[in-house]
Amino acid sequence: MADFKIKDISLAEQGKEKIEWASSRMKVLSLLRERGKKQKPFNGTTIAACLHVTSETANLMIALKESGAEVYLAPSNPLSTQDDVAAALVKFYKIPVFAIRGEDRQSYYENLREVASRKPHITLDDGGDLTAYIHENRLFDGILGGTEETTTGVIRFRAMEKDIALKYPIIAVNDSRTKYLFDNRYGTGQSTIDGILRATNILIAGLRFVVAGYGWCGRGIAMRARGMGANVIITEVNPIRALEARMDGFEVLPMEEAAKIGDIFVTATGCKNVIDEKHFYLLKNGAILANSGHFDVEINVRKLREIAVSHKKIRDNVEEFTLENDKKFYLLAEGRLVNLGAAEGHPPEVMDLSFANQYLAAKFILENREKLENRVYVLPPEIDEEIAKLKLKSLGITIDELSDEQIRYLRSWREGT
Ligand code: NAI
Repeated sequence: MADFKIKDISLAEQGKEKIEWASSRMKVLSLLRERGKKQKPFNGTTIAACLHVTSETANLMIALKESGAEVYLAPSNPLSTQDDVAAALVKFYKIPVFAIRGEDRQSYYENLREVASRKPHITLDDGGDLTAYIHENRLFDGILGGTEETTTGVIRFRAMEKDIALKYPIIAVNDSRTKYLFDNRYGTGQSTIDGILRATNILIAGLRFVVAGYGWCGRGIAMRARGMGANVIITEVNPIRALEARMDGFEVLPMEEAAKIGDIFVTATGCKNVIDEKHFYLLKNGAILANSGHFDVEINVRKLREIAVSHKKIRDNVEEFTLENDKKFYLLAEGRLVNLGAAEGHPPEVMDLSFANQYLAAKFILENREKLENRVYVLPPEIDEEIAKLKLKSLGITIDELSDEQIRYLRSWREGT
């Protein structure tokens, strides 16, 4: 087993600055880190993590290590690694990282093997690849539990639970309200636009901007695209969400119609082939395609590479495809998460909430190891609310409290008027 695998250790200074900058904006996690330094709740615990290697993740790793854990980090996407952050974690924080931006599939799985084979007690996952790897290779002995960061991973684990295939409990961090309401909505909303702009430098105002999926991520992307002056169109398969999108003031169309008029498309569904072969032929000349869902299957990129008569890279993270009908269009970040491939992922302020959940979920696993079954759990609402309270406090915001009289009123069925 290697000690670590990174691109270039000389990038470490720059990475350290980025980690510290993020830290200064992650107040809840910093508080947990300070408490953890004193109480050492993770003493004797080995943690294997498969998360995007960003400056925010670095702060989670550091908080866990300073709280007593031995941590190992692999990336959850080959394009999301920040090489300078990986270098800083190795050099300054002595955290073994196995990640180089732009790795191929084989190398991606070698990284998973590196962290999975450290006999972890807890796994932290984003998308479920590490946990799936551990299950497939029967490396689960001694694992007390795992956490999952994103919607797609939670869907995979619920399917495993249903098939009675889960070998250890999973905490669905994604399903905490302090996670999906903020990370998926405001984080993805802002960072997706950020990724598109860094890749293309286009003007959003006046564009027909198609968002596939009106879930938490899609809502955020639609909201921010509208804020920049785009004419936003939603595609959905869920009638309630479609109705909600309509009443939020967006146009709702099937993809076959949207494909003909959209200037830019972003998928955020967790589904596959949402933009498929038949849609490619309908696209306008010059259309731009991007994905913000977890896996690179939402746009059928494999098919696209097959049917295109030519393709070439025209800028970082922008590939031009030409079809036999001579139409050209553009794919961003290879159809992988555009916010992580072409930008830096979510801002630290929202990752503060997500990673406070990750930290407390790992602690919850340790504290409840005797009680948890091989199922998917959501963190108790008290922990969720505590995170929200700490965040509000860090923002200097106070809110009202119910009086005893109000509590009695709300609990009583006799007192209607
Ligand atoms: P969600 O479950 O809240 O929303 C997904 C929506 O897509 C649903 O309303 C569903 O009806 C719709 N949908 C499913 N198949 C569709 C299809 N074929 N066409 C149109 N609409 C379809 O999920 P959420 O939280 O919004 O997550 C979406 C994806 O984004 C997941 O893969 C998740 O893991 C990922 N994600 C990405 C982040 C990022 O940093 N880019 C951050 C958080 C989540």
